[in-house]
Amino acid sequence: MSKKITITSIKKSKGASPLVMITAYDALFAKLMESSCDMILVGDSLNMSFAGKSDTLSATLEQMIYHTNAVAMGAKNSFIICDMPFGTYTSPDEALKNSIRVFQETPADALKIEGGEDKAHIIKHLCSNGIAVCGHIGLLPQAVRSEGGYKVKGKSQEEREQLIRDAKAVESAGAFCMVIEGVKAEVAAEVARGVNIPVIGIGAGRDVDGQVLVFSDMLGFFEEFTPKFVKKYIDGASLVKSALKSYSDEVKSKEFPQDIHTY
Ligand code: KIV
Repeated sequence: MSKKITITSIKKSKGASPLVMITAYDALFAKLMESSCDMILVGDSLNMSFAGKSDTLSATLEQMIYHTNAVAMGAKNSFIICDMPFGTYTSPDEALKNSIRVFQETPADALKIEGGEDKAHIIKHLCSNGIAVCGHIGLLPQAVRSEGGYKVKGKSQEEREQLIRDAKAVESAGAFCMVIEGVKAEVAAEVARGVNIPVIGIGAGRDVDGQVLVFSDMLGFFEEFTPKFVKKYIDGASLVKSALKSYSDEVKSKEFPQDIHTY
């Protein structure tokens, strides 16, 4: 996208055109994403994808600030959302203090926080103090330890009703959009129909208002495991490995560098 999308156009896109969101953690990739994505999420998934940890919980506010600045350097025309890491929004005042730090120390356009009805009072406090908030409901990666794993939501009637309450609470609290993760497609569709702000899915089927994927998953860099909801648009790991093998072979055989690479 050549022109930076605004909160107003994000809200207006509901029912008109699906939103494209992707994660990024550095300037190099963010620059490549800028022309095809509406929003870049500096997800706390960087703790896994970038830092190699087994979950997102040890990501710190300092790391999120550092990576948000890196992404912003690469994607100056993109709408950038910084994920608030685990433990930084346990109370309204703590959340506001940490959010103000992100807004003052980075050019992030908005922040994302995980939680539904239980976090509505925090979202409301942030929104009423000038912080734009993207909600995140359904499967919450920051709850992986307390829930004992990543569990798809919306399988029971109770979960379905809770998701609808969560979405409505996030909307009423003032969020401009929300991510819905790991939810049965028909329930995610019902959630999206039930609110007036865009609901952006990840592992939540196609009948929502947009999609988000972790960039290293969709570019095929993560080899260990492919979640069902991920489509690998290229086999990045094989491409990179094969390029590195060619480089290594050519260095050993002295085929590289040639005259054109030499001063
Ligand atoms: O941290 C992240 O990358 C996310 C996406 C999975 C939505 O929250």
